[in-house]
Amino acid sequence: GERPKLLVVANRLPVSAKRTGENSWFLEMSPGGLVSGVTAQFDTKWVGWPGVDVYDEVGKNALSKALAEMKCIPVFLEEVFDQYYNGYCNGILWPILHHMGLPQDDHHDTNKTSQTQYDAYKKANRLFLDVIIDNYEEGDIVWCHDYHLMFLPQYLKEYNSKIKVGWFLHSPFPSSEVYKTLPSRSELLRSVLTADLLGFHTYDFARHFVSTCTRILGVEGTHEGIVDQGRVTRVAVFPIGIDPDRFIRTCKLPEVIQQMNELKERFSGKKVILGVDRLDMIKGIPQKYLGFEKFLEENPNWRHKVVLVQIAVPTRNGVPEYQKVKTQVHGLVGRINGRFGSVSSLPIHHLDCSVNFNYLCALYAIADVMLVTSLRDGMNLVSYEFVACQEAEKGVLVLSEFAGAGQSLGAGALLSKNRLIILGFFGTLTEPMHRRTKEMDLKLNPEVKGTLEALCNDPKTTVVVLSRTGRNILDQI
Ligand code: UDP
Ligand code: G6P
Repeated sequence: GERPKLLVVANRLPVSAKRTGENSWFLEMSPGGLVSGVTAQFDTKWVGWPGVDVYDEVGKNALSKALAEMKCIPVFLEEVFDQYYNGYCNGILWPILHHMGLPQDDHHDTNKTSQTQYDAYKKANRLFLDVIIDNYEEGDIVWCHDYHLMFLPQYLKEYNSKIKVGWFLHSPFPSSEVYKTLPSRSELLRSVLTADLLGFHTYDFARHFVSTCTRILGVEGTHEGIVDQGRVTRVAVFPIGIDPDRFIRTCKLPEVIQQMNELKERFSGKKVILGVDRLDMIKGIPQKYLGFEKFLEENPNWRHKVVLVQIAVPTRNGVPEYQKVKTQVHGLVGRINGRFGSVSSLPIHHLDCSVNFNYLCALYAIADVMLVTSLRDGMNLVSYEFVACQEAEKGVLVLSEFAGAGQSLGAGALLSKNRLIILGFFGTLTEPMHRRTKEMDLKLNPEVKGTLEALCNDPKTTVVVLSRTGRNILDQI
């Protein structure tokens, strides 16, 4: 066989496994932007967690074999998984990286819990290291991804200082004022600084990272990156992109055109607003619903002429904050549909599921408005995908300026004769997300309302700005 040139290491493999029998597995495409962005077009092998718990050797071997055909190598996390993934990664790191602060836990000794989770995080990073060591051959580049693997650069360099290591963060990096609330702030930074190259989606995230290192570690920040006792770690910006051709091709398939026609028929006479998000507090789904509710409240003439279709992809169900936001969102859907629905029409179609790729493209293509209301978001590929599918160029992308994509698409919007609307969501960031909805500060409403009104009245706009620069990182490691 051919030798791998690149080992892509990420918590989540591009395929997730479901066990269908003692020796059989069903492999499906994993959701999320990381997997969509880093497609394996190179001589690449993936190392990552396969999405399931497997404890028996027979099962592990069978799964490893099935995954090998997809060039994937599994890391079995077993008992550290819960404390590592639900605990440290998504209960602690994710909220801090998204400027949300640590959730309050009234029932547990928070210090003790977070220490256990931190230990599990380090242990999990060591398990990734072990699998890489088994598969590494001299000359390979190891490209580590995301907040799950911040100790991996250090462990790799301790094992063999000659390994070329890159680390790319798919989430935002916050201001040092927020980041420094993390108890293990210095160790994590020191570890990622052992890599050769660090990548971020936007200039702001990179700048936050550099100034955080200078403030917390006392190292020097230069235009190249970080200098510590003569050693340079390069810091650079590589906004991830999509493969627009894949979407354009899919939109031309007869099966997809058929689905588009069915959807158009289903919603005929109505404007379709579309949302596609993992059900994550960073996506601002409650805020989206509250804005929509206010719009319906104040515009009785629109009540049966507009529908909001929200694909709410299930995610991280083991984390209490995610359970809370899900409950909150379901409450809102019930209330709004109860208030403004009728026997024959419901304003919100909320689906707790993922959809297959073809159907997703059909939805993007027929939507009149794509509503992306992230409170913080590393990039947000959904906004690019919508644009790629809008052949008829009639839809409008409403994009929160707090998504990384707001920076790339925003610049293009000025040049484009078409229209992109970037909304600011003010006043919600410091609000605890689990507050009762009626107590929520709704400063965003006038903007959402004004925008929706404008959109519904103007049928001929779209934005086309696409870049595929995510790949350049490979030339630079
Ligand atoms: N997506 C998916 N299944 C779905 C809906 C969406 O796989 O049912 C994909 C979507 O096409 C996009 C990704 O999930 O590529 C979401 O990426 P994004 O950057 O918008 O957000 P993230 O989930 O990474 O926070
Ligand atoms: C974001 C993260 C990825 C993650 C994805 C899906 O895009 O940056 O690292 O894979 O969300 O989340 P999950 O926890 O299901 O992997």
